[in-house]
Amino acid sequence: MSTLTATFAFLFYIATAILVIFVARKVRIYAKTPAPLKIPTTPAPTTRSGVVFRMVKEVTIFESLFKSSKWTWLFGWLFHFGLLLVLLRHLRYFTEPVWGWVAFIQPFGKYAAFMMLIGLAGLLARRILVDRVRYISAPSDHLMLLLLIAIGASGALMTFVEHIDIVALKSFLLGLMTFAWASNSLTPMPNDIILIVHLSLVILLMIIFPFSKLLHAPGVFFSPSRNQVDNPRERRHIADWATKLDNTKSSTRAS
Ligand code: HEM
Repeated sequence: MSTLTATFAFLFYIATAILVIFVARKVRIYAKTPAPLKIPTTPAPTTRSGVVFRMVKEVTIFESLFKSSKWTWLFGWLFHFGLLLVLLRHLRYFTEPVWGWVAFIQPFGKYAAFMMLIGLAGLLARRILVDRVRYISAPSDHLMLLLLIAIGASGALMTFVEHIDIVALKSFLLGLMTFAWASNSLTPMPNDIILIVHLSLVILLMIIFPFSKLLHAPGVFFSPSRNQVDNPRERRHIADWATKLDNTKSSTRAS
C-alpha cells in the first residue's frame, strides 16, 4: 500500500470516529440540558404538531432568519441548499449500485456548487462589510467560511476543470467502508493534487465540526425558543429534573 493511500485511509477512519463520537456526545448534552422556563418565541404554535410544522419551516426555508434579515437569509439559504444538493450528489461515491434518485439529482448537484459558493461569498462579504457584524466576528467565523469556500472551490475545480479518476476514487472509498485493506485488496487513492487538497480539507472539517459553531445543525432542534409548545396557561411546565425533585419531596412527606 502506498504512503498516500495508507495516510488517507488512516485519517478517514480517525476523522469519522471523532465526528460520530463527539457529535453524539454533544447531542446527548443538548438533550439532557434542562429547560426550566417556557420561552417559545411568540407568536408560537399551541400544539405539538404545530411545533413540528414550525421546525420544518425553520430548517427548510429558514423562516425566522427571513423575518430578521433578507440578505443574510438569501446567502445563507443559497449556501445551505447548495450544500445539501452537493452532499446528496456525493452519495454516488459511497453506494454501489447508485440509488435511482441519487443518479437523478447528479446534474442539479453539479451546478449546486455555484449556489454554495455564491452563498458563502455573500456570507463572508457580510462579515467584512457590515460594521455591526464585523464588530462581533471572531477569527473562527471567517476561518469556517474560508474552509468551506476552499472545499467547494477545490471540488468545483475537479468537476469543471481538471477531472480526476472517479472510478478509482470510488473503489478506494468503498474499500475503506468494507475494510478491504484487511484482505490486501484496497484500491490505491488516486494521486491527484486537487483531490488531495479537497479530501484533506474535508477531513479537517470532519475533525473540527463537533467543536465548532457548525454544531448549530443538530443544535437548532434543541432550541427551547423554537421547540416549545406555547401552552403555559393550559399545562404547568416542569422540567424532568424538577419532576424528580417534586416526587422525592412528596414521598418524603408521605413517609
Ligand atoms: C469524503 C468526502 C468527500 C469526497 C470523497 C469528495 C470527493 C469529491 C470529488 C471526487 C469531486 C469531483 C466530482 C466530479 O468530478 O464529478 C467533488 C466535488 C465537489 N465536492 Fe466533494 N468530496 C467530499 C466531501 C465534500 C464536502 C463535505 C463538501 C462540502 C462541504 C464537498 C464539496 C464539493 C463540491 C462543491 C464539489 C463540486 C460539485 C460536485 O461535483 O458535486 N465535498 N468532491
